[in-house]
Amino acid sequence: MKKHVVVYKRLSAPLLARLQERFDVTCFDGVNETNRSAFETALRCAHGLIGASVRIDAATLALAPDLEICSTISVGTDTFDLEELKRRGIVLTHTPGVLTETVADTIFALILATARRVVELADFVRAGKWKRSIGPDLFGVDVNQKTIGCVGMGRIGAAVARRARLGFGMKVIYHDVAAAPAVEADYDAVRLPLERVLAEADFVCVLLPLLPSTEKLIDAVAFARMKPSAIFINGSRGRVVDEAALIEALQKGLIRGAGLDVFEREPLPVDSPLLAMSNVVALPHIGSATRETREAMAATAVDDLIAGLEGSKPAHLADPSVWAAALLKDASL
Ligand code: DGY
Repeated sequence: MKKHVVVYKRLSAPLLARLQERFDVTCFDGVNETNRSAFETALRCAHGLIGASVRIDAATLALAPDLEICSTISVGTDTFDLEELKRRGIVLTHTPGVLTETVADTIFALILATARRVVELADFVRAGKWKRSIGPDLFGVDVNQKTIGCVGMGRIGAAVARRARLGFGMKVIYHDVAAAPAVEADYDAVRLPLERVLAEADFVCVLLPLLPSTEKLIDAVAFARMKPSAIFINGSRGRVVDEAALIEALQKGLIRGAGLDVFEREPLPVDSPLLAMSNVVALPHIGSATRETREAMAATAVDDLIAGLEGSKPAHLADPSVWAAALLKDASL
Protein backbone atom coordinates (compact mmCIF):
# COMPACT_ATOMS: atom_id res chain seq x y z
CA MET A 1 0.00 0.00 0.00
CA LYS A 2 1.25 3.49 -0.86
CA LYS A 3 2.19 5.83 1.94
CA HIS A 4 0.11 8.97 2.38
CA VAL A 5 1.55 12.48 2.14
CA VAL A 6 -0.18 15.70 3.14
CA VAL A 7 1.05 18.81 1.31
CA TYR A 8 0.07 22.09 2.98
CA LYS A 9 1.74 24.63 0.72
CA ARG A 10 1.30 24.88 -3.03
CA LEU A 11 4.04 23.00 -4.93
CA SER A 12 5.00 23.42 -8.58
CA ALA A 13 3.55 20.79 -10.93
CA PRO A 14 6.86 18.90 -11.43
CA LEU A 15 7.49 18.66 -7.69
CA LEU A 16 3.93 17.59 -6.96
CA ALA A 17 4.21 14.96 -9.72
CA ARG A 18 7.32 13.52 -8.04
CA LEU A 19 5.32 12.97 -4.88
CA GLN A 20 2.25 11.65 -6.71
CA GLU A 21 4.36 9.03 -8.55
CA ARG A 22 5.26 7.50 -5.19
CA PHE A 23 2.57 8.32 -2.67
CA ASP A 24 -1.12 9.04 -2.17
CA VAL A 25 -1.11 12.81 -1.88
CA THR A 26 -3.63 15.22 -0.35
CA CYS A 27 -2.97 18.90 -1.07
CA PHE A 28 -3.89 22.08 0.75
CA ASP A 29 -2.93 25.57 -0.38
CA GLY A 30 -2.19 26.75 3.15
CA VAL A 31 -4.33 25.95 6.17
CA ASN A 32 -7.03 28.35 7.30
CA GLU A 33 -10.34 28.38 9.12
CA THR A 34 -12.14 27.11 6.02
CA ASN A 35 -10.01 24.03 5.37
CA ARG A 36 -8.63 23.31 8.87
CA SER A 37 -10.99 20.42 9.53
CA ALA A 38 -10.21 18.76 6.14
CA PHE A 39 -6.49 19.19 6.90
CA GLU A 40 -6.94 17.55 10.29
CA THR A 41 -8.88 14.68 8.74
CA ALA A 42 -6.08 14.13 6.19
CA LEU A 43 -3.52 14.00 9.01
CA ARG A 44 -5.17 10.86 10.40
CA CYS A 45 -3.60 8.69 7.69
CA ALA A 46 -0.50 10.81 6.93
CA HIS A 47 2.96 9.25 6.90
CA GLY A 48 4.61 12.41 5.57
CA LEU A 49 3.88 16.10 5.87
CA ILE A 50 5.35 18.86 3.70
CA GLY A 51 4.69 22.61 3.72
CA ALA A 52 5.48 25.80 5.62
CA SER A 53 4.08 28.58 7.78
CA VAL A 54 1.55 26.48 9.70
CA ARG A 55 1.98 25.82 13.40
CA ILE A 56 2.46 22.09 13.91
CA ASP A 57 2.05 21.70 17.65
CA ALA A 58 1.56 18.70 19.91
CA ALA A 59 -2.23 18.77 19.42
CA THR A 60 -1.81 18.72 15.63
CA LEU A 61 0.74 15.91 15.81
CA ALA A 62 -1.61 13.92 18.02
CA LEU A 63 -4.02 13.74 15.06
CA ALA A 64 -1.39 11.92 12.98
CA PRO A 65 -0.63 8.55 14.62
CA ASP A 66 1.27 7.19 11.58
CA LEU A 67 3.40 10.26 10.91
CA GLU A 68 7.06 9.41 10.16
CA ILE A 69 8.48 12.62 8.74
CA CYS A 70 7.73 16.34 8.43
CA SER A 71 9.57 18.30 5.76
CA THR A 72 9.36 22.04 6.22
CA ILE A 73 9.97 24.33 3.24
CA SER A 74 11.92 26.75 5.41
CA VAL A 75 15.19 26.90 7.24
CA GLY A 76 13.46 27.92 10.46
CA THR A 77 11.90 25.08 12.43
CA ASP A 78 10.13 27.26 14.99
CA THR A 79 6.64 26.40 13.73
CA PHE A 80 7.13 22.86 15.10
CA ASP A 81 6.94 21.47 18.60
CA LEU A 82 10.45 20.02 18.43
CA GLU A 83 10.23 18.25 21.78
CA GLU A 84 7.05 16.47 20.77
CA LEU A 85 8.54 15.45 17.40
CA LYS A 86 11.51 13.98 19.23
CA ARG A 87 9.38 12.23 21.82
CA ARG A 88 7.30 10.66 19.05
CA GLY A 89 10.38 9.82 16.93
CA ILE A 90 9.09 11.88 13.99
CA VAL A 91 11.91 13.09 11.73
CA LEU A 92 11.99 16.78 10.74
CA THR A 93 13.87 18.10 7.71
CA HIS A 94 14.37 21.73 6.69
CA THR A 95 16.03 23.74 3.90
CA PRO A 96 19.27 25.41 4.99
CA GLY A 97 21.80 26.49 2.38
CA VAL A 98 19.64 27.08 -0.70
CA LEU A 99 18.18 30.31 0.67
CA THR A 100 21.32 31.82 2.22
CA GLU A 101 22.24 34.25 -0.54
CA THR A 102 18.67 35.32 -1.21
CA VAL A 103 18.00 36.10 2.45
CA ALA A 104 21.29 38.05 2.62
CA ASP A 105 20.07 40.05 -0.41
CA THR A 106 16.85 40.83 1.47
CA ILE A 107 18.82 41.99 4.51
CA PHE A 108 20.77 44.36 2.28
CA ALA A 109 17.58 45.56 0.62
CA LEU A 110 16.35 46.52 4.10
CA ILE A 111 19.64 48.20 5.00
CA LEU A 112 19.67 50.29 1.83
CA ALA A 113 15.94 51.04 1.89
CA THR A 114 16.05 52.34 5.47
CA ALA A 115 19.35 54.22 5.23
CA ARG A 116 18.50 55.88 1.92
CA ARG A 117 14.78 56.26 2.69
CA VAL A 118 13.93 54.48 -0.55
CA VAL A 119 10.31 53.61 0.22
CA GLU A 120 9.50 56.98 1.79
CA LEU A 121 11.02 58.90 -1.13
CA ALA A 122 9.44 56.68 -3.78
CA ASP A 123 6.09 57.43 -2.14
CA PHE A 124 7.04 61.12 -2.17
CA VAL A 125 7.53 61.02 -5.94
CA ARG A 126 4.36 58.99 -6.49
CA ALA A 127 2.39 61.53 -4.44
CA GLY A 128 3.50 64.32 -6.79
CA LYS A 129 5.55 66.05 -4.06
CA TRP A 130 8.78 66.23 -6.09
CA LYS A 131 8.77 69.86 -7.13
CA ARG A 132 12.45 70.72 -6.70
CA SER A 133 15.72 69.09 -5.67
CA ILE A 134 15.25 67.57 -2.20
CA GLY A 135 16.79 69.26 0.83
CA PRO A 136 18.63 67.93 3.90
CA ASP A 137 15.36 67.10 5.65
CA LEU A 138 14.96 64.22 3.19
CA PHE A 139 18.60 63.14 2.95
CA GLY A 140 19.49 59.61 3.95
CA VAL A 141 22.66 58.33 5.58
CA ASP A 142 25.55 56.40 4.05
CA VAL A 143 25.80 52.64 4.20
CA ASN A 144 29.31 52.37 2.73
CA GLN A 145 32.22 52.53 5.21
CA LYS A 146 29.86 52.22 8.20
CA THR A 147 29.87 49.51 10.89
CA ILE A 148 27.49 46.58 10.60
CA GLY A 149 26.79 44.61 13.77
CA CYS A 150 25.54 41.10 13.12
CA VAL A 151 23.75 39.51 16.05
CA GLY A 152 24.19 35.87 15.03
CA MET A 153 26.83 34.65 12.60
CA GLY A 154 25.61 31.52 10.87
CA ARG A 155 25.41 30.90 7.12
CA ILE A 156 23.22 33.95 6.47
CA GLY A 157 25.35 36.10 8.77
CA ALA A 158 28.43 35.15 6.77
CA ALA A 159 26.69 36.03 3.48
CA VAL A 160 25.65 39.40 4.93
CA ALA A 161 29.20 40.01 6.20
CA ARG A 162 30.59 39.26 2.73
CA ARG A 163 28.30 41.80 1.10
CA ALA A 164 29.05 44.35 3.83
CA ARG A 165 32.82 44.03 3.72
CA LEU A 166 33.54 43.33 0.06
CA GLY A 167 30.66 45.23 -1.48
CA PHE A 168 30.27 48.23 0.80
CA GLY A 169 33.64 48.51 2.56
CA MET A 170 31.93 48.23 5.93
CA LYS A 171 33.51 47.24 9.21
CA VAL A 172 31.95 43.98 10.42
CA ILE A 173 31.45 43.26 14.11
CA TYR A 174 29.38 40.35 15.37
CA HIS A 175 28.12 38.50 18.37
CA ASP A 176 27.53 34.77 18.42
CA VAL A 177 27.89 31.99 20.99
CA ALA A 178 30.47 30.43 18.65
CA ALA A 179 33.34 32.17 16.89
CA ALA A 180 33.28 32.27 13.07
CA PRO A 181 37.00 32.08 12.17
CA ALA A 182 36.39 32.00 8.40
CA VAL A 183 34.33 35.21 8.57
CA GLU A 184 37.00 36.82 10.72
CA ALA A 185 39.73 35.80 8.26
CA ASP A 186 37.83 36.62 5.07
CA TYR A 187 35.99 39.80 6.05
CA ASP A 188 38.05 41.15 8.97
CA ALA A 189 35.06 40.55 11.21
CA VAL A 190 35.53 41.07 14.95
CA ARG A 191 33.61 39.05 17.53
CA LEU A 192 32.45 41.14 20.47
CA PRO A 193 30.12 40.83 23.46
CA LEU A 194 26.51 41.59 22.54
CA GLU A 195 26.55 44.87 24.49
CA ARG A 196 29.43 46.17 22.40
CA VAL A 197 27.88 45.12 19.09
CA LEU A 198 24.68 46.94 20.04
CA ALA A 199 26.57 50.05 21.17
CA GLU A 200 29.02 50.31 18.27
CA ALA A 201 27.05 49.29 15.17
CA ASP A 202 25.50 51.75 12.74
CA PHE A 203 23.35 48.88 11.45
CA VAL A 204 22.30 46.28 14.01
CA CYS A 205 21.21 43.17 12.09
CA VAL A 206 19.48 40.31 13.86
CA LEU A 207 20.38 37.02 12.18
CA LEU A 208 19.39 34.48 14.81
CA PRO A 209 17.05 31.50 14.82
CA LEU A 210 14.09 31.66 17.21
CA LEU A 211 14.95 29.44 20.18
CA PRO A 212 13.95 29.61 23.84
CA SER A 213 17.35 31.26 24.43
CA THR A 214 16.85 33.93 21.75
CA GLU A 215 13.18 34.83 22.36
CA LYS A 216 12.95 38.60 23.07
CA LEU A 217 16.74 38.79 23.23
CA ILE A 218 16.54 42.29 21.76
CA ASP A 219 14.58 44.06 24.46
CA ALA A 220 14.27 47.59 25.87
CA VAL A 221 17.72 47.34 27.46
CA ALA A 222 19.22 46.33 24.12
CA PHE A 223 17.58 49.26 22.28
CA ALA A 224 18.78 51.66 24.98
CA ARG A 225 22.35 50.54 24.27
CA MET A 226 22.14 51.40 20.54
CA LYS A 227 23.33 54.68 19.08
CA PRO A 228 20.58 57.24 18.33
CA SER A 229 21.83 57.07 14.73
CA ALA A 230 21.57 53.27 14.57
CA ILE A 231 19.30 51.48 12.14
CA PHE A 232 17.82 48.22 13.36
CA ILE A 233 17.32 45.37 10.87
CA ASN A 234 15.44 42.14 11.52
CA GLY A 235 15.17 39.44 8.87
CA SER A 236 15.20 36.42 11.17
CA ARG A 237 12.15 35.95 13.39
CA GLY A 238 9.90 38.59 14.93
CA ARG A 239 9.85 36.98 18.35
CA VAL A 240 13.62 37.39 18.76
CA VAL A 241 12.70 41.04 19.37
CA ASP A 242 10.45 42.59 22.01
CA GLU A 243 8.29 44.42 19.47
CA ALA A 244 6.72 46.75 22.04
CA ALA A 245 10.23 47.80 23.09
CA LEU A 246 11.18 48.35 19.43
CA ILE A 247 8.11 50.55 18.90
CA GLU A 248 8.94 52.54 22.01
CA ALA A 249 12.58 52.95 20.95
CA LEU A 250 11.44 54.30 17.57
CA GLN A 251 8.83 56.58 19.14
CA LYS A 252 11.36 58.00 21.61
CA GLY A 253 14.02 58.44 18.92
CA LEU A 254 16.42 56.03 20.64
CA ILE A 255 17.30 54.71 17.17
CA ARG A 256 17.06 56.25 13.69
CA GLY A 257 14.89 53.66 12.00
CA ALA A 258 14.13 50.02 11.38
CA GLY A 259 13.99 47.65 8.43
CA LEU A 260 11.80 44.68 9.27
CA ASP A 261 10.89 41.55 7.35
CA VAL A 262 9.48 39.67 10.34
CA PHE A 263 7.15 40.49 13.20
CA GLU A 264 5.82 39.10 16.45
CA ARG A 265 2.47 38.54 14.73
CA GLU A 266 2.32 37.76 11.00
CA PRO A 267 0.65 39.04 8.93
CA LEU A 268 1.44 42.33 10.69
CA PRO A 269 -1.86 43.89 11.86
CA VAL A 270 -2.66 46.98 9.78
CA ASP A 271 -3.07 49.05 12.94
CA SER A 272 0.51 48.32 14.08
CA PRO A 273 2.20 51.60 15.13
CA LEU A 274 5.16 50.45 13.01
CA LEU A 275 3.16 51.14 9.86
CA ALA A 276 2.59 54.75 10.85
CA MET A 277 6.32 55.52 11.01
CA SER A 278 8.06 56.84 7.90
CA ASN A 279 11.43 55.65 9.24
CA VAL A 280 10.27 52.02 9.24
CA VAL A 281 10.39 49.76 6.20
CA ALA A 282 8.11 46.77 6.76
CA LEU A 283 8.10 43.80 4.39
CA PRO A 284 5.76 40.77 4.37
CA HIS A 285 8.35 38.12 5.40
CA ILE A 286 9.98 37.90 1.97
CA GLY A 287 13.47 36.81 3.10
CA SER A 288 13.67 33.83 0.74
CA ALA A 289 10.76 34.78 -1.51
CA THR A 290 12.19 34.70 -5.01
CA ARG A 291 10.93 32.30 -7.67
CA GLU A 292 14.26 30.53 -7.93
CA THR A 293 14.91 30.17 -4.24
CA ARG A 294 11.41 29.13 -3.22
CA GLU A 295 11.48 26.45 -5.94
CA ALA A 296 14.91 25.27 -4.78
CA MET A 297 13.67 25.15 -1.18
CA ALA A 298 10.59 23.16 -2.19
CA ALA A 299 12.74 20.76 -4.27
CA THR A 300 15.05 20.23 -1.29
CA ALA A 301 12.06 19.56 0.96
CA VAL A 302 10.52 17.12 -1.56
CA ASP A 303 13.84 15.24 -1.95
CA ASP A 304 14.17 14.92 1.81
CA LEU A 305 10.58 13.78 2.26
CA ILE A 306 10.97 11.10 -0.41
CA ALA A 307 14.27 9.95 1.07
CA GLY A 308 12.81 9.72 4.57
CA LEU A 309 9.66 7.86 3.51
CA GLU A 310 11.68 5.47 1.34
CA GLY A 311 14.08 4.68 4.17
CA SER A 312 17.21 6.62 3.16
CA LYS A 313 18.76 9.32 5.28
CA PRO A 314 17.43 12.77 4.30
CA ALA A 315 20.18 15.28 3.59
CA HIS A 316 18.87 18.08 5.81
CA LEU A 317 17.82 16.68 9.17
CA ALA A 318 16.86 19.32 11.73
CA ASP A 319 17.84 16.94 14.55
CA PRO A 320 19.97 14.00 13.34
CA SER A 321 19.50 12.23 16.69
CA VAL A 322 15.83 11.56 15.83
CA TRP A 323 16.83 9.79 12.60
CA ALA A 324 19.50 7.78 14.43
CA ALA A 325 16.96 6.76 17.10
CA ALA A 326 14.45 5.71 14.41
CA LEU A 327 17.12 3.53 12.78
CA LEU A 328 17.95 1.88 16.09
CA LYS A 329 14.25 1.23 16.73
CA ASP A 330 13.85 -0.36 13.27
CA ALA A 331 16.96 -2.51 13.79
CA SER A 332 15.62 -3.84 17.08
CA LEU A 333 12.20 -4.80 15.63
C1 DGY B 1 12.73 30.40 6.49
O1 DGY B 1 13.10 29.64 5.60
O2 DGY B 1 12.72 30.06 7.67
C2 DGY B 1 12.28 31.73 6.05
O3 DGY B 1 11.91 32.54 7.10
C3 DGY B 1 11.14 31.58 5.08
O4 DGY B 1 11.19 32.70 4.26
